[in-house]
Amino acid sequence: MTERYARIVATGSALPEKVVTNEDLTKFVDTSDEWIRTRTGIGERRIAGPGETTASLGHRAAQQALQDAGIKAGELDLIVVGTTTPDLVFPSTAALIQHRLGANGCAAFDVNAACSGFMYALGVAHQFIRGGQYRRVLAIGAETLTRIVSWQERETAVLFGDGAGAVVLEASDEPGIYASLMHADGGYQELLTCPVGISSGFTDGPNHGLRVQMAGREVFKVAVKTLDALVGETLKAAGMVESQVDWLIPHQANLRIIEATAKRLNMSMDRVIVTVDRHANTSAGSVPLALDEAVRSGRVQRGQNLLLEAFGGGFTWASALLRY
Ligand code: COA
Repeated sequence: MTERYARIVATGSALPEKVVTNEDLTKFVDTSDEWIRTRTGIGERRIAGPGETTASLGHRAAQQALQDAGIKAGELDLIVVGTTTPDLVFPSTAALIQHRLGANGCAAFDVNAACSGFMYALGVAHQFIRGGQYRRVLAIGAETLTRIVSWQERETAVLFGDGAGAVVLEASDEPGIYASLMHADGGYQELLTCPVGISSGFTDGPNHGLRVQMAGREVFKVAVKTLDALVGETLKAAGMVESQVDWLIPHQANLRIIEATAKRLNMSMDRVIVTVDRHANTSAGSVPLALDEAVRSGRVQRGQNLLLEAFGGGFTWASALLRY
């Protein structure tokens, strides 16, 4: 019997129009372009405007991916959206996007794994296709994280941006995703959190207490160590060695974290897709945005092996090794 793989047949992405540079941020928070660039690699970010939401960005990314795949929305079996900033409590962002696409009737749900959200969505898509239940799945990572950033707090305000990316996956007897891995450790809640919610309640403070809180230095250390182990585990699960990976497409939180992972893989930075300089950290949006940009620029080619990975609040961490 031939093996059944989940194969990415097309990608798409969407960014808000509004560009906010580091220099722009210095007008209302005590920071500098030099500090932000040297510590993070970020130069600018996109910020969602009044009419833009996680679902609208995810919808635009999905439309582009479906168009490039030559697949009609009605042919989808599942839409899974990785997001931590859904439009509403319910319906899910996946259901909102499903209706806008006109894919009514297929399965649709969100996964919340913070910055690893798209990698979790991809893992879910992989398993549903590999297991034989579904043939065509749309996996999206979409966020408007700037809506939960406190613009007065320089430790976090400079780090985030908004955006979305999408991939269409199809069942194929050609690879395909070789391995996808997911992990979480809820014991790290205090280091990276948005500390209010429906069930535990909101506060009377600004934005009802909705704000990203992060112990940056501690998160940095755990991220580097965890991603180091994750890429090793991913290679092993796929039965591959470092030299077989053509491109590293990492979560875009901090250029120094990306460089550390590339070093672990013995990869020079010209084989690593970097968008953090222009997008900042778009959480679940970052990996599919980087993938789509790499595909559209012609750097990533059919037949190449891609290692995708992410780390985020939870903590969560997840990866995939696939032939594009
Ligand atoms: N502008 C200017 N100075 C700032 C600043 C800003 N935006 N934010 C913090 N500082 C200051 C601090 O107050 C501190 O000052 P002090 O030395 O006088 O106390 C100094 O810069 C160093 O702060 P520190 O937090 O130790 O810096 P860092 O080198 O660890 O860099 C991060 C901070 C957030 C960039 C870095 O820790 C990081 O990227 N962490 C991981 C973040 C991440 O990936 N999060 C998402 C996971 S999905």
